[in-house]
Amino acid sequence: MDLARHAGLPREAQPHGLSVHSIRPRKVLSALGPAVGVLALLIVLGSPGFVSEALGAPAQWLSPAAVVAAPDGATLYIACATGDRVLVFDLAARKVTQSIATPPSPTGLAITPDGKTLWVTCAAPKSEVCAIELARARITSRFPAGHTALAPVLSPDGRTLFVCNRFHDDVGVFDLPSGKERRRIPVRREPVAAALTPDGRRLLVANHLPHGRADADHVAAVVSVIDPALGRVVDDLWLPNGSGSLADIRISPDGRYAVVTHVLSRFHLPTTQLERGWMNTNAKTIIDLERMQVLNTVLLDTVDRGAANPWGAAWSADGATLVVAHAGTHEVSVINVLGVIEKLARLSTNAPAPLSAALPYSYARAAQPADSEVPNDLSFLVGLRERRPLPEGDWGPRAVVVVGQMVCVANYFSDTLTLLELGGSRPKAESIALGPRPRPQPAREGERYFHDARLCFQGWQSCASCHPGDGRVDGFNWDLLNDGIGNPKNNKSLLLTFETPPAMSLGVRESPEAAVRAGIRHILFTVQPPEVAAALDAYVQSLKPVPSPRLVKGRLSAAARRGERVFQSAETGCAQCHPGPLFTDLKSYDVGTLGRFDQPGDLFDTPTLVELWRTAPYLHDGSAATVRDVLTTANPRDQHGKTSHLTADQLNDLIEYLLSL
Ligand code: HEC
Ligand code: HEC
Repeated sequence: MDLARHAGLPREAQPHGLSVHSIRPRKVLSALGPAVGVLALLIVLGSPGFVSEALGAPAQWLSPAAVVAAPDGATLYIACATGDRVLVFDLAARKVTQSIATPPSPTGLAITPDGKTLWVTCAAPKSEVCAIELARARITSRFPAGHTALAPVLSPDGRTLFVCNRFHDDVGVFDLPSGKERRRIPVRREPVAAALTPDGRRLLVANHLPHGRADADHVAAVVSVIDPALGRVVDDLWLPNGSGSLADIRISPDGRYAVVTHVLSRFHLPTTQLERGWMNTNAKTIIDLERMQVLNTVLLDTVDRGAANPWGAAWSADGATLVVAHAGTHEVSVINVLGVIEKLARLSTNAPAPLSAALPYSYARAAQPADSEVPNDLSFLVGLRERRPLPEGDWGPRAVVVVGQMVCVANYFSDTLTLLELGGSRPKAESIALGPRPRPQPAREGERYFHDARLCFQGWQSCASCHPGDGRVDGFNWDLLNDGIGNPKNNKSLLLTFETPPAMSLGVRESPEAAVRAGIRHILFTVQPPEVAAALDAYVQSLKPVPSPRLVKGRLSAAARRGERVFQSAETGCAQCHPGPLFTDLKSYDVGTLGRFDQPGDLFDTPTLVELWRTAPYLHDGSAATVRDVLTTANPRDQHGKTSHLTADQLNDLIEYLLSL
């Protein structure tokens, strides 16, 4: 069978050039400042598309992304990532009582033990950390942090604040209340969540993505263990092969265990089916903090139903229950976590089940002790976990807290809060709107679909399972069937996909529209109405490059400017195939990168180099861990531009330039 042609899809719209993206009014206003803002508002209101929005539904989504509870449990604070505010929610009255404006993109919260001050990280290329004095509902201090600051964590004595700088790949350590940054601690890749042991002696940091080559034996993200006293990483805890998209990490109240939520990708299998978690499974890994090692990884899916995109996690105060939000399937898992730990302990002390003559021979059982099979066991949680669907219309649960017997879930895509009672014979679930519902916009609808595993057969995955971080990369190689079987390709970012046809590294999809529709049919294995694909197109087209963390005051550094000249030089020839502003000529070549799974004569689509800093590993087969590898070990015969003549300094400058794009 010709697998490359199995799509049988209609040929879609022809490739087009750079298009002008729809501009959000908020962005325009904030960019122009207050005085010009009023003028801009009038102009915006004057344009037909916005009139009804201004009079009726607001244009602004809130996108609740983080939630914490006051120590007395009476109040919730909810950070709204696109609403640029923190909402104060009265749990007894079931309503929002205050709205506190913040700098753009508040996505992380930490509250002091006395409940008086709320720390908010506002994620941006130049992030801000703000302290809100809650009695006055006012920001009382703000100071700068790194690129895309997230997940603030307070030390037990309240004197230190740790902040994950996602795109600087480090953790900032701040002295409070002076706000002086004491140091930056480098971690592996895209730290997105952190948790401190109750004694304050270890900070565990979840790296969102795997690092290193994608064609290695073990490809997985790590949890970095920081000793705050030493101010450095003292251990990297490797998660099982295929672990990525780490979302949250939480330590049990007694400080014995940490739980990290993530996707467990079966990237070494061809993407022929979804049954039984063939492509992506969804997991939590439990870390034993006494021994500082991974205890095990437990799947959150069940045999015929995925629990896609595990995101926020929370322990109950007694440490008996763990709640995990499933952003892709709009439900929470309520887990008897003590039962899980007991079951794991039994497995690891038991000898592996003996091979019986009465049973068929099992390679797996013969080779491995039973506890190493847990990460493949889709029935491990039977009897230990309850899957609680959210009320219809509550979409994209990302943050969760447990207050007494109440689970509070913030739903990113519906601007709602779900309150679920634990226990009881007929536990209630309540949905509460956090604000007026804005009019649907195609890009936002598409973003929701992109993260929605209801588009997928049995809910195993969403587009975001492989394209996390706003349609970027997961760091894995996947053997998609569109270019034949047995030739895995490194994942591609969807940034600029619409401007740089064809799609896929072998260019097998002549348009991005075709790739989107093939994704629904042949990766999610469903049929969706045309509006869904159109909305996904709109979302992908709305993606904007994030400025590189290497820029200095928003501009190329001196080294990068020198590197730019190397890049532009006729001798290296880079700009011939990678001309700006897209940094691709949209053509395909053999640049000497054919690997062992490729066919002679394969030509690879010249990729854009925009956002190269966040799309490692490189080349179509993910065989280059770094840009340096692309230009040196992967280019031994100068077939990929001429690089052999470059001095060490020139090479460094060139790399600095490439990572600044
Ligand atoms: C199982 C993982 C996986 C899932 C799920 C997935 N993709 Fe992809 N996607 C990939 C890989 C891998 C590539 C690159 C393949 C290549 O280069 O040949 C890719 C490439 C693409 C491209 C082309 C990018 C370019 O510029 O060439 C588009 C568009 C795309 N995906 C859209 C989607 C959409 C939309 C969904 C959800 C309907 C989706 N993907 C789900 C793995 C996945
Ligand atoms: C003949 C055209 C051509 C020239 C000249 C060229 N490139 Fe490329 N470049 C490509 C192609 C094609 C690929 C994809 C190769 C692959 O995936 O195996 C690529 C891939 C890359 C990548 C990896 C991108 C990624 O996302 O994986 C980098 C970095 C890069 N080129 C930089 C350069 C630099 C720097 C130069 C000059 C020294 C250069 N290229 C010269 C065509 C070219």
